[in-house]
Amino acid sequence: NVKVLEVSPVGQSKTAGGFFELRLENPDWDGWKPGQFVMIRPASWELDMLWARPFSISSGDKASVSLLIQAVGRGTRRIAELRPGDTVAMWGPLGNSFAVEPDTPTLLLAGGIGIAPFRGYVEQHPHPENLALFLAHRLPLDCYPYELLSKTVSSRCMLEAKPSDLNCIIDTMRELIREYADKGGLVLSCGPTPFMRTVQRFAAEFGARAQVSLENRMACGVGACLGCVTKDGEGHHVQVCTRGPVFWADKVEL
Ligand code: FES
Repeated sequence: NVKVLEVSPVGQSKTAGGFFELRLENPDWDGWKPGQFVMIRPASWELDMLWARPFSISSGDKASVSLLIQAVGRGTRRIAELRPGDTVAMWGPLGNSFAVEPDTPTLLLAGGIGIAPFRGYVEQHPHPENLALFLAHRLPLDCYPYELLSKTVSSRCMLEAKPSDLNCIIDTMRELIREYADKGGLVLSCGPTPFMRTVQRFAAEFGARAQVSLENRMACGVGACLGCVTKDGEGHHVQVCTRGPVFWADKVEL
């Protein structure tokens, strides 16, 4: 069910890190859940699904969504060039969503642009005082639009981390995951694959209940192209776009 939608002016706000926010209005929208994603591509491009990209829904309401995007490749740079009034083809919301346990202490672990779905998670959570956010990043902190989150999250661990600080990031993640395992908390994470592997490893070591959101390449988003396949905990092939993108950390191979 592909919709052609106009890009709104919000889409032009950018930060030094190449992050920008793209807002899409859709009167037929029927809501979404944190962790779900949409597929979009500029509507002017040829009808080639390979040009579509998946983006986590970062914020929004019943009739609109905001996507937090980092312009890093050809496709995302072209999307960053869209101007108000330009149109995109969009389908979604797609996939499953993060677990929400209102009264459970919940740790949000974000690696870089993996922070995107957590903005919506915080906005929709009935008890955001039970949430804590850790952002692991390599760019200077002011390149990130994390202030969007900091209004509502008691950000206990904002770490200025450069590549040489990788050990510091890993040590912090280990301690946080151990702490949340000890108190019966929930750990939710989104970021690059090595980041998720680290979460998975520490969750297994300390017995933490943890979910990971995978960022596999996707072309169709609806289970048809098999371009996003990974293996579940039993070694069976599964499509990340329809069975995920969120998996329990002990139920997926990374
Ligand atoms: Fe096509 Fe998942 S993106 S099957």
